[in-house]
Amino acid sequence: MSHSARTKAITGGRPSGEHAPANVPIVPASHLGLEYAREDGTETWRALEAVIGELEGGEATAFASGMGAVSAVFDLLPAGAEVAVPTDSYAGMRDLLQHAEAKGRLRGRRLDPADSQAWLTAAAEVDLLWLESPTNPSLYEIAIDAITAAAAASDKPPIVAVDNTFATPLGQQPLALGADVVMHSATKLIGGHSDLLLGITVTANEGLAKAMRDSRMRSGATPGALEAWLALRGVRTLPVRYAAVSATAAELAKRFDDHTAVNHMRYPALGGGMIAFELPDAASADAFCSRLQLIRHATSLGGVESTVERRAARPSDSHVPAGLLRFSVGLEDVDDLWQDIRQALGEEA
Ligand SMILES: Cc1ncc(COP(=O)(O)O)c(C=O)c1O
Repeated sequence: MSHSARTKAITGGRPSGEHAPANVPIVPASHLGLEYAREDGTETWRALEAVIGELEGGEATAFASGMGAVSAVFDLLPAGAEVAVPTDSYAGMRDLLQHAEAKGRLRGRRLDPADSQAWLTAAAEVDLLWLESPTNPSLYEIAIDAITAAAAASDKPPIVAVDNTFATPLGQQPLALGADVVMHSATKLIGGHSDLLLGITVTANEGLAKAMRDSRMRSGATPGALEAWLALRGVRTLPVRYAAVSATAAELAKRFDDHTAVNHMRYPALGGGMIAFELPDAASADAFCSRLQLIRHATSLGGVESTVERRAARPSDSHVPAGLLRFSVGLEDVDDLWQDIRQALGEEA
C-alpha cells in the first residue's frame, strides 16, 4: 500500500513486533559488539534515515550538520572538478567552495539563480550542479526539472545535487525531478525546534549512497545520538508544521504585498514558511528588528518560533540589498504576528 507523506512521516522508522517500543531508543554507544558506530551507524540514526529516505524517495545518510552533508557531496569530486552554484545561496556552502578553490582542489562557477540559460549551458560543462531552491536568503526558485533534463542529455552528465532545506520533501522531491542527490540542513524545518544541528543526504543511486556513507565514515561527520533522536521526533510533525507555516506565510505574504512600507516581497510559488522582503535601508531594517516583541530577531530558521534577520549585516551575504529581511514564519497565530510586524513598522498596532 502506498501512503501519503503525512502518513510516512508517522510510520517510517518505527520498531515493529508485538512488544516493540513505540519509538526507537537513543543509542549512546560507540560500538555495538564488533560494529563501530562511525562505520555502521546505530539504530537511532537508521530510524531517522529510514523515514527521511521514504519521504524523499531514496536512501538517506545522516550527518553531524548540514555542512557535514554538503562536504560529503563535494567529496564525490576529483581534484580540479568544476562546480556551479547559485550566487544567492547558503553562505557556508559558498565558503566551502571558495576554500576548495583557494587550495586548488575545485573550480567554481557562480550563476545567477534567475539566469536559466546559464544553468542549461553549465549542465553540459561542469562536474557538479549545486542547486538550491528556493535560495537562502533571497528565495529565488530554480527550475530543477529543466536543469536535470539538460544534465541528463549532456555527453558527460554532471552530478545534480539539490539543497532542499527550505522546501522540505513536502514542498518538492528533487529525486523525482531528476536530481542525483538531495541535501538537507535538518537543523532547520526537519528538526523544527531550534534544538539541534544535523544534516542529511538522500539518493536513489546505490553507488552514491555508499559514497555518502563512506565519506561520513572517513570525515567523522557523524550525528549525535540525541540529535538524531530529536530530528526523528521532529519529522513526525513535519507535514503538519509545513502545512501550518505555509498557510500563515502565504497570508502574511499577501499582507506584505499590499503594504506600502514594504518592498520587493518574495514568497516562493511552491509555498513554505520563508518570506523575504525589503525595507528602504539598513537603518530602517535594523530599527524594525529591534522593535519586534513577539518575533525573535535571530539567525537560523525553520523552528516553531518565528525569526527575522537582516542578512546583509553578515559579510557572507553582502550581495543582498541592505534592507533585505529574511523571515522564517513559525506556528504563532497569524494575527499576532501581523500585529507585531505592524508595530515594528512604527504603525498603530
Ligand atoms: C539552505 C541551507 N543549507 C545548508 C545549511 C547548513 O546547515 P547546518 O547549519 O546544519 O550545517 C544551512 C544553514 O543555515 C542552510 O540554510
